[in-house]
Amino acid sequence: MTSNNTHKDWWKQAVVYQIYPRSFKDSDGDGLGDIAGITSRMGYLRDLGVDAIWLSPFYPSELADGGYDVIDYRDVDPRLGTMDDFDAMVAAAHSQGLKVVVDIVPNHTSDRHPWFQEALGAAPGSAQRERYIFREGRGCDGEIPPNDWLSMFGGSAWQRVDDGQWYLHLFARQQPDLNWKNPDVHEDFIRTLRFWSDHGTDGFRVDVAHGLAKDLSSRSLEELGRWPSQAQPTADGDHPLWDRPEVHDIYREWRRVFDEYDPPRFAIAEAWVAPEHQHLYASEKELGQVFNFEFAKANWCPQELRTAIVKGLDCAREAGSTTTWVMSNHDVPRHASRYALPQVRTRGYHQIANDWLLRNGESYIEDRDRGTRRARAAIMLEAGLPGSVYVYQGEELGLFEVADLPWDRLEDPQSRNSRGPFCVKGRDGCRVPLPWRADDEPRPAAWNPKFGEGASFGFSPQERAGSPACEPHLPQPLWFRHFAVDREDNDPTSMLQLYRKALSLRQTLLTATRDTGLTLLTTESFDDRSTIAYSRMTTRKDRRFVSITNFGSEPVPLPHGTVVLASADPLGDSIPQDTTVWMLTDV
Ligand code: BGC
Repeated sequence: MTSNNTHKDWWKQAVVYQIYPRSFKDSDGDGLGDIAGITSRMGYLRDLGVDAIWLSPFYPSELADGGYDVIDYRDVDPRLGTMDDFDAMVAAAHSQGLKVVVDIVPNHTSDRHPWFQEALGAAPGSAQRERYIFREGRGCDGEIPPNDWLSMFGGSAWQRVDDGQWYLHLFARQQPDLNWKNPDVHEDFIRTLRFWSDHGTDGFRVDVAHGLAKDLSSRSLEELGRWPSQAQPTADGDHPLWDRPEVHDIYREWRRVFDEYDPPRFAIAEAWVAPEHQHLYASEKELGQVFNFEFAKANWCPQELRTAIVKGLDCAREAGSTTTWVMSNHDVPRHASRYALPQVRTRGYHQIANDWLLRNGESYIEDRDRGTRRARAAIMLEAGLPGSVYVYQGEELGLFEVADLPWDRLEDPQSRNSRGPFCVKGRDGCRVPLPWRADDEPRPAAWNPKFGEGASFGFSPQERAGSPACEPHLPQPLWFRHFAVDREDNDPTSMLQLYRKALSLRQTLLTATRDTGLTLLTTESFDDRSTIAYSRMTTRKDRRFVSITNFGSEPVPLPHGTVVLASADPLGDSIPQDTTVWMLTDV
């Protein structure tokens, strides 16, 4: 067990590795990653130096939204394994000293969930329909949706059912929103939290945590539909859909469940709310932690990243918790690609994600050397900070976004619903199955020679019950060969080796102190227009840790001290552009 994980509040300073299960490792050759595949790579995860793994949904699902459309919250999708496989995976993780976090999706179920099927079969106004948000439509025959809200994936947020009523789905049509005013919903999620906790799960990631409480009754739906920005929470707590004050009652209820366990379970909120509201979700009376997406939204620009750091630390202070640092996840374009684009201030990744420049796959210009150099500097900038670091599978290999996936192979509902000049390919480009072995190289595919077929860089075994394995569920580009785990394993200069060294030093020098203090340094050499420099106490009483990132074109002189890690070589006596250096200096 890492020394961090011996503590009850291990999650306050953890490195958590996000697994997108369908794309991590396939153990049975059906082209889909699975639970046994994760178990088979536990040694890899331990050697990487992470404290925990977080699994995106692996529950039975129609895959209308990558598994975030859950049919049964207390089971494993048969294509991904069984509950026994899950238990074996947890046991393997624990035996390597790793914690396990699972994803809870409480805003909506799948339309195949038994509750929704019952609701469809029941009459308007019935108890079955009350678990969801059904309303009458407008117009003479109720043929117009109850209001003009849009789904986050495009099109109306209302879907009509056979008897004429409409149900609300803020995401895909196959993801009806639950009604959190209904006690059945509360009870069922409490059962789910206990179920996974009893199966050894150490924590939960809460999907769309800011969306559960909705107010659809204080004004007419039409009036509510005129809300200035339907997609963005307001800071006054008066938005009908997002970040309402009542949502916190739900998490206080959940906290009582977490505290039934020893050590108490923890949770982290995915809450896209104003930075000044984040701390409410992270309070110790509620979930414990909240994703700080400000870091992921920032461009490779010292002003934006420094603001993200300061806001993250402020939020942690207010919550009495620690913050989190995230650069990539299954929803955003990979940061090695984001940093490889021209860095234009104020274009957060939201804009980039929906931007034809990155996600239509044909017309963006990516400077990969620059993206790699910055991604190396970025992980060191991030990993030296106090709080928890979330690493998304494949970023440790330096993977880029696969932006040119063919349209007819896409799975993400964002791509299906987008039309016209601003059509987007959605989020599949960061969800392509991982390359494990360079020598299991596919041949150029007949349908597009940039992609492979016939093998999968070790993602799937070569055979499935005596026949060749199926193709990976999303095609892998041939350039993945340069990023295969075995190749990076043997290259001391690879991204993988840098992650291993950085995470190991973070653990021994910084996390082991349990201290979360940080001093931002601004000196004549480290001016805040082109550098981010900070210092922290270390396990060595006579030495301080200093991290310096130089973003500017002018080299920055190395201060006096010992360099323990640098993101780029050679260093000489100064720090070149797009480089982070970690040093130990005298106190
Ligand atoms: C998840 C997405 C998902 C959405 C709806 C998000 O926040 O991270 O992947 O599409 O919730 O469940």
